[in-house]
Amino acid sequence: MAASLLERLLSLLQTMVFQLIGNKIPTNALKHIMDLGFVLFEKVSCKFEVLSTLYLKMYSDIVRKEIALANITDGEHVLVIGSGALPATPVLIAQYSSAQRVISIDNDRYAVREASRYVQTHHLEQKLSIVYADGVNYPVEPFTVIFVLYGVKHPQEILTYLAGAVRDDTRIIFRAITDITGQLTDRSIRLSPLFTIQKKVHTETLGSFDSFLLVKKTSLHPES
Ligand SMILES: C[S@@+](CC[C@H](N)C(=O)[O-])C[C@H]1O[C@@H](n2cnc3c(N)ncnc32)[C@H](O)[C@@H]1O
Repeated sequence: MAASLLERLLSLLQTMVFQLIGNKIPTNALKHIMDLGFVLFEKVSCKFEVLSTLYLKMYSDIVRKEIALANITDGEHVLVIGSGALPATPVLIAQYSSAQRVISIDNDRYAVREASRYVQTHHLEQKLSIVYADGVNYPVEPFTVIFVLYGVKHPQEILTYLAGAVRDDTRIIFRAITDITGQLTDRSIRLSPLFTIQKKVHTETLGSFDSFLLVKKTSLHPES
């Protein structure tokens, strides 16, 4: 009863924040506020199982689409950049995909501690590990699939690093807010000089998001 009331309340909040406000984020200042809201919400809701469960449910659609987009197959090693205190995306990748191992990193020690606790209490340690690290320099060679989540700081720096460091065949899923024409609302991000955009999928459940399937442009690295 209380859970279903909470679910309806969260769903209303979700519509207001993501679909009414989130789609209209015109400036970086507003984006920073929304990013902070996400981080704080995760830090609070990771303490309550009922909120955590509802939060994961909100991510279910986008993560299923991204797993299909990346075509994750048996035995693959997946890296997720930006776990958050409530690691919804890495947990759902571990649960829904046939990846052998998922490593999820975050550069906030508190978020890593809370996310690791979630992994332990849900007995996911065999498949998922949370690591304190930064996406701008984490060693990426072992990974065949890499997720760069919405809300990471310095996304262009992370993407530039990845374009130079990943294997030629590594698939990168980059999640970002887009406008009604499908353009990234964060104009500081430039994908095409670094990557070939192979495909993208659109999701509305968290707001107007596109998830891009990227592979690096090998002509940038003729020696590899
Ligand atoms: C990406 S969102 C959280 C995503 C969400 N929990 C999910 O499941 O999709 C915010 C998190 O990214 C982390 N973060 C931001 N910039 C980062 C970076 N450069 N490297 C690693 N983590 C980063 C923040 O500390 C924060 O906890």
